[in-house]
Amino acid sequence: MRFFQPFLLFTLAIHASPVLVVETAVVTKIAIPTQKVIVQVKAPNHDAKPHPQAAPKKSTKAPKKPKEQKYFHEPGWDNESGHYDSRYFRGKVPYEQHRPALRHLVRSYLTTFKTLGAETWLAHGSLLGWWWNGRIMPWDYDLDVQVSVATLSFLGDRYNRSMHEYEYEVDGEENETFLFDATAETKLERIDLRNSNGSDHDNKEGVTTTKVKKTYLLDINPHYSALTKGNGANIIDARWIDMSNGMFIDITGLREREPERAPGIWSCKNNHRYLTSELWPLRRTEFEGVEAWIPYSFDKVLTDEYGAKSLVVEEWAGHRWIPELREWVKIPKKNPPSPSKEKEHPLADDTNTETVVVYEEVVVEDEKKGV
Ligand SMILES: *[C@@H]1O[C@H](CO)[C@@H](O)[C@H](O)[C@H]1NC(C)=O
Ligand SMILES: *[C@@H]1O[C@H](CO)[C@@H](O)[C@H](O)[C@H]1NC(C)=O
Ligand SMILES: *[C@@H]1O[C@H](CO)[C@@H](O)[C@H](O)[C@H]1NC(C)=O
Ligand SMILES: *[C@@H]1O[C@H](CO)[C@@H](O)[C@H](O)[C@H]1NC(C)=O
Repeated sequence: MRFFQPFLLFTLAIHASPVLVVETAVVTKIAIPTQKVIVQVKAPNHDAKPHPQAAPKKSTKAPKKPKEQKYFHEPGWDNESGHYDSRYFRGKVPYEQHRPALRHLVRSYLTTFKTLGAETWLAHGSLLGWWWNGRIMPWDYDLDVQVSVATLSFLGDRYNRSMHEYEYEVDGEENETFLFDATAETKLERIDLRNSNGSDHDNKEGVTTTKVKKTYLLDINPHYSALTKGNGANIIDARWIDMSNGMFIDITGLREREPERAPGIWSCKNNHRYLTSELWPLRRTEFEGVEAWIPYSFDKVLTDEYGAKSLVVEEWAGHRWIPELREWVKIPKKNPPSPSKEKEHPLADDTNTETVVVYEEVVVEDEKKGV
């Protein structure tokens, strides 16, 4: 199995602030992280001044609250269409392509947040995906990260609705052609680097390398500082949105919601709770080939949320874990494994494995595609 070595060039252009352009070149490789993590002493943000709570306002009249408006909108409610931002949605991204799209989404997010100096860590399904192999689980339609509410306040003040450019190269290992139908609003560039002899030493001859430039929007929900979930319309505090297709990362903010009665208990509006010591100091690791941070007690966080089984069960959502590949693969539909089949030796079933390798590598060798 061949892991691609994308060359990522992150360009960051902040809209609302005086020309601040940061360029960072990062060479990454999918070094599938093991459970080994580097403990990093990093001062948590939680001592930062919390966002000034609006002083309890004496409403002179109208005790009837206006209905809380939902800030983010999605084109639909089912598992799939609920995972696009309405403003940029132009059709569902098919199974084969949503994972590469999510991968660039999370890479751009993590890298940009690092540049901004904004603390963030993996949460929920993304954290579980990290636990297995440092990658997005192939059946996941979204990505989840957390920040502290202090960080949201910082981002809301300085980077709300900021757009961030991000460039990456596709060397044929991803078939994202559909993403490039340059529609009016998105400026996507395809540059054929077929004959360039750049840094891409890994390239086989004739491989087309395509440079893609995308723009991502960081959008902060004005309800981020609310103490309660209200009517539930605004439990997502911020989003990192791929403006070419509407896919996004949900960003939720944690805070001590009852600092007097329950100090040291952090929660999001959706009532996921964590102790200070379970979150901080964050651990530094890698996710999808870029630097990422995870809660200190990631195993406790995961078992609390998903149960101990989530860390051992090797079949899930129509996929099977292949230890030799360190990868989840889709179980072929036509030939479902018999339930009695021994799980410890999934490779014994060659049909299934083969399908996987194709799934992961299908485009790698297919170099004539492209421009
Ligand atoms: C949506 O999620 C539910 C529960 O996880 C699952 O049963 C259902 O098949 C999913 N639907 C689609 C279209 O993926
Ligand atoms: C790659 O993308 C092209 C254009 O959208 C499509 O025709 C082709 O079937 C795709 N190939 C694979 C393997 O997904
Ligand atoms: C790469 O290109 C440069 C100039 O474009 C040339 O001088 C160099 O010899 C090339 N290297 C290889 C290995 O082709
Ligand atoms: C972010 O900007 C939008 C558009 O101007 C605005 O509606 C929203 O309230 C802002 N969010 C914050 C946290 O200020």
